[in-house]
Amino acid sequence: MSLPHGIRTLGVLGAGQMGLGIAFVSALRANVPVLLHDRSAEQVTKGLALMDKLLAKDVAKGRITADAAKDARARVSVVDALEGLRDVDMVVEAVSESLPLKQSIFGSFAATLRPDAILASNTSSISITKIAAAAVPAGVSPASAQGKQSAGRVVGLHFFNPVPVMKLVELISALQTTPETLDRARAFATACGKGDDLEGRPGFVSNALLMPFINEAIMCLEKGTATRDDIDTTLKLGMNHPMGPLQLADFIGLDTCLAIQQTLYEGTRDSKYRPSVLLERMVDAQWYGRKNGKGFYEYSE
Ligand code: 3HC
Repeated sequence: MSLPHGIRTLGVLGAGQMGLGIAFVSALRANVPVLLHDRSAEQVTKGLALMDKLLAKDVAKGRITADAAKDARARVSVVDALEGLRDVDMVVEAVSESLPLKQSIFGSFAATLRPDAILASNTSSISITKIAAAAVPAGVSPASAQGKQSAGRVVGLHFFNPVPVMKLVELISALQTTPETLDRARAFATACGKGDDLEGRPGFVSNALLMPFINEAIMCLEKGTATRDDIDTTLKLGMNHPMGPLQLADFIGLDTCLAIQQTLYEGTRDSKYRPSVLLERMVDAQWYGRKNGKGFYEYSE
């Protein structure tokens, strides 16, 4: 295969807003067949309906032909078990931000997928080195040649929401990641149309900058320094941000914002990452933002 990334079939684990977006750009822009898995059949149905809507919009706007949309949609198949991903050349995990969950998934990948398959995580903040350490078959030492080979194909591939629109993908190297893995992951992200702003160096610069900003906005609201609308309007009109920070927090998901902030705070003990009490309480109330209809704003759909 002459493609620089060598990905003939991609697996995507998780059909939420990120996983679905990754499947969409992979099938439409990189022309790669995608096997999509989510343990929730309802989530898959919702995700595929959104994909149909996005393709129809691109056709209506004259960006792609109806045939191209049909071909892209035909490139996406659903598998109902993780084992269905066993022959893929690369998998992108896009499940919720929990280290134990990701460790268990990457352990299963190591046991199930081909030994040369790239194992990518769309995590927003969790250490790729810790995830890679779990991607070693049972009974194999992480320090052995086989252990290093297995963990060396793990890489962070951090897409941004909405994936079809945002141009950036952050590439994150684990300590174990091999240069070949990084090169192939970068080539794949480029094929998905994300070529402009790729970074090859380790780290999650985006959320280390974004999350204290969002948290500060929530604390402004909490302390009564400014109203919700004044905070968002200030950033939109004064700094030309497309969304204010509270609107953006709702868009990302308040549970996701909290999980990222907790990971950053636990990892650094730096108080600038300590989540605000109001954010914690809103997540306790199960107000997750746009995804379930209530966050700093109310959503009818
Ligand atoms: N999925 C797919 N496409 C979407 C979408 C979605 N959820 N929401 C909007 N779009 C598309 C629209 O269909 C439209 O496409 P078109 O140009 O083909 O018609 C385009 O985006 C613009 O949409 P609208 O005209 O309806 O609205 P706006 O001009 O207000 O743009 C926005 C919407 C692109 C979401 C813009 O408000 C924006 O850029 N907001 C900031 C988003 C952002 O910062 N994302 C990063 C979040 S951080 C992250 O993801 C990292 C994680 O780790 C936390």
